[in-house]
Amino acid sequence: MAAEVLDGKITAAKLTEEVKKEVAEFRERFGIGPGLTVVIVGEDPASKVYVSRKHKACIDTGINSEVIRLPETTSQEELLATIDRLNGDQAVHGILVQLPLPKHIDAEKVLEHIRPDKDVDGFHPVNVGNLCVGRENLVPCTPYGIVKMLEMNEIAIEGKRAVIIGRSNIVGKPMSMLLLARNATVTVCHSRTKDLAAVCREGDILVAAIGKPQFVTKDMVKPGATVIDVGINRVGDRLVGDVNFADVAGTAGHITPVPGGVGPLTIAMLLHNTLKAAALQCK
Ligand code: GUN
Repeated sequence: MAAEVLDGKITAAKLTEEVKKEVAEFRERFGIGPGLTVVIVGEDPASKVYVSRKHKACIDTGINSEVIRLPETTSQEELLATIDRLNGDQAVHGILVQLPLPKHIDAEKVLEHIRPDKDVDGFHPVNVGNLCVGRENLVPCTPYGIVKMLEMNEIAIEGKRAVIIGRSNIVGKPMSMLLLARNATVTVCHSRTKDLAAVCREGDILVAAIGKPQFVTKDMVKPGATVIDVGINRVGDRLVGDVNFADVAGTAGHITPVPGGVGPLTIAMLLHNTLKAAALQCK
């Protein structure tokens, strides 16, 4: 039997509608809108697309949006000075520095420079620490969106075996914390994991976040499992995920497509986090 496709666009639209209502209430109460500033350094084509999508989503939701475009040659000091200015600007409630940054810039230093209560990515060590001790304050958007998608589609997490492929700070690690907090039994796999396919087959929920096109095949999937594909890989002129959708769709119970799966949720949760950051700062 073919898997049920989890449509991220529908879930994201519901989440965005809720945020939109709350943004209107926020404006009514405080006389200003929540404000997000995105900083992009350089000319990475994919980053430019993502940043323009974020900007449009903010505008559509009533969130004030500013994009600061800096040249590839921007020094680390210049970028840190920009963040200093945004940290001190009361109209800016959320700051997002689009990754990846040019090689001469230390991304970790930059992310740590953002005020934790304006860190709408949830990448600052203070927010990472909060997540690890069970305080879900500003939570990384992609894994947070995945949890919302599972919850809104009534896919049980508690007591389930969850297997995550990939241990990145952006997805794999925070995903593990969010699923653990919801009482899943979590395994995080990576490039040194032995007998990866056998481990993956234990997952009632399988999250693929490794950046390898169509890496997950049906021999790695437990029949009936929920398969979440975080990958966005360009192959020729096509976008494909980390999951071989056609192969896995006959085995999985639920599956997310690429595009139209996890991507829209990431943006919805960015809007959610921006509103949350604004609320934290204006209470
Ligand atoms: N580049 C790809 N994904 C992300 C993300 O979630 N946040 C930031 N800041 N950059 C990214």
